[in-house]
Amino acid sequence: MFKSIKIFSNKRILIFLFSFLLVDMVIGQDAMINIQSRNAISLNGQWNVIIDPTGVGEWLQVWLEKRPQKKTDFFEYSFDGGPVLKVPGDFNSQKSELTFFEGTVWYRKKFNYTIQNEKRLFLHFGAVNYIADVYLNGEKLGIHEGGFTPFQFEITNKVKSGINSIVVKTNNVRQKNGLPGLGYDWFNYGGITRDVNIIETGKTYIQDYSIQLKKGSLNTVSGWIQLDGLQLEQKIEIKIPELNIQYKTKSDKKGLAPVDFSSGFELWSPENPKLYKVIIKSETDSVSENIGFRNIEVKEGKVLLNNHPIFLKAVNIHEENPYKGARAYSRDDANLLLKAAKELGCNLVRLAHYPHNENMIREAERMGLMIWSELPVYQHIDFADSTVPVKMDRMLGEMIRRDKNRCGVVVWSLSNETYPSTPNRDKALVELTKKCKALDSVRLITHVINSQKYLSNSFELWDTLYRHSDLVSINEYAGWYVPWQGKPSDVKWKVVCPEKPVFISEFGGEALFGSDYGPADEAAYWTEEYQEKIYIDQVKMFNTVPNLSGVCPWLLFDYRSLSRLHPVYQKGYNRKGLLSEKGDKKKAWYIMKVYYNKK
Ligand code: GCU
Repeated sequence: MFKSIKIFSNKRILIFLFSFLLVDMVIGQDAMINIQSRNAISLNGQWNVIIDPTGVGEWLQVWLEKRPQKKTDFFEYSFDGGPVLKVPGDFNSQKSELTFFEGTVWYRKKFNYTIQNEKRLFLHFGAVNYIADVYLNGEKLGIHEGGFTPFQFEITNKVKSGINSIVVKTNNVRQKNGLPGLGYDWFNYGGITRDVNIIETGKTYIQDYSIQLKKGSLNTVSGWIQLDGLQLEQKIEIKIPELNIQYKTKSDKKGLAPVDFSSGFELWSPENPKLYKVIIKSETDSVSENIGFRNIEVKEGKVLLNNHPIFLKAVNIHEENPYKGARAYSRDDANLLLKAAKELGCNLVRLAHYPHNENMIREAERMGLMIWSELPVYQHIDFADSTVPVKMDRMLGEMIRRDKNRCGVVVWSLSNETYPSTPNRDKALVELTKKCKALDSVRLITHVINSQKYLSNSFELWDTLYRHSDLVSINEYAGWYVPWQGKPSDVKWKVVCPEKPVFISEFGGEALFGSDYGPADEAAYWTEEYQEKIYIDQVKMFNTVPNLSGVCPWLLFDYRSLSRLHPVYQKGYNRKGLLSEKGDKKKAWYIMKVYYNKK
């Protein structure tokens, strides 16, 4: 089988390694924002693939798409005549042989293009899980690590007129120094999971901008616009027709233009998710999108939206279409999940535990749902590995870059249940928090913690990270993983930062919809009654929490997780949903609905 490999000369191996090392340093570039408003050619659809369980494709250099030149030539791979997969979409749910696959799948897509002198061209990915090596016409463009944020490559000088061929090596093998690390309680959907576009721009284009109210203001926009290209000093105009705003500014030698203007905005809120059409026009480019304006802050133990205290009626959601058992990516997927959150009475969705697709963010904002966006810095992270802080910074930048103009996004969550004992954890996460504040001084920042002590029915919240967070976010599973140590209504609290708002970011327990396998008051039968009782008790406990500013059940829908092994009750599903994966309302759903109706 591997005879052909032996023809690799030592010289070839050296070149291969050297070339691999060189080009591999080209990390996916910072992606331009607001793809929806760009001149884009979608590459979504059927892609030819090579499923590569052993990773031999690297040696075979399948991206060269070699073809026999002479009678004795043969190549033990081809994209033609092989399987196809749909993009966007995870590969696991598309083919039964890939159901539990964690490895390499090579994708190939051809596109026709005619070069135009005055144009630049970019290849943009919404996301690829987990590592993507990207090639164009047999040449490596670069690599991107991280399954939940966008990246792009400029291909202006690499594309040719006529047929071009893109090859993407996708690999979702878990990485010890990855984000997330080796273990996590969700399904490791691999592949090209979000949209792929070819984007054409002028020689100088509007690459990025920030248009949001400045901290503490209800009427003053403070931001910037960044051009990219040759002609960086330009006149730029921002128009908001509905408010008769025509604001003029200028970009400097670095292409950066300051933005600072005031107006009587109708503020965005869950009751009134007001968005304005905003047009940004430079001398060589223009983009537009719907943007809302709101102020979010914490004060005296409360969360204030537009200067009014607000209780965060939240729910946790994984980026999974429950009916398909597949990674969610489309607007329909988003609406399916968000409508269910609305029906429960929510005004905020915690998008766990990684940045969800842009459809989710834009639809939530349009529907009047505040958004909590989170980095997959989840449980066991190898903070002592020197590459990890670099990856965290990069992922943070990518997350904020894409969604900073979404007024619906009110919280950046930088970690979930990391272990205080992990070497370098505090230092790395405190550093990350500072970087987040530097990138975005407007939104709330938090770390989700479950290191609290629970002794004689009293919680002690002590974690260092609380000192660096705007919200004291706690995951507690009293009644499920942790038996109650007294009456829920008698719980006592000791919080390291008593002046800060407290948010119960996770609570709950499991139930299999319709389970009547045993007594309702015994956990081991996954009954709805047992889960319902947990919720009844949690609601009683909520009244004891000082500065309680919101709660967030874990979670909306049952979802796939390979670490959930019970053959009768779980079958590879985390069953803590208030809804089954078929959308059935469990008894606990009604407890939460009533609680939110009263709030
Ligand atoms: C944790 C964790 C979740 C997990 C949940 C559970 O708190 O944050 O990702 O799924 O517990 O155990 O169900």
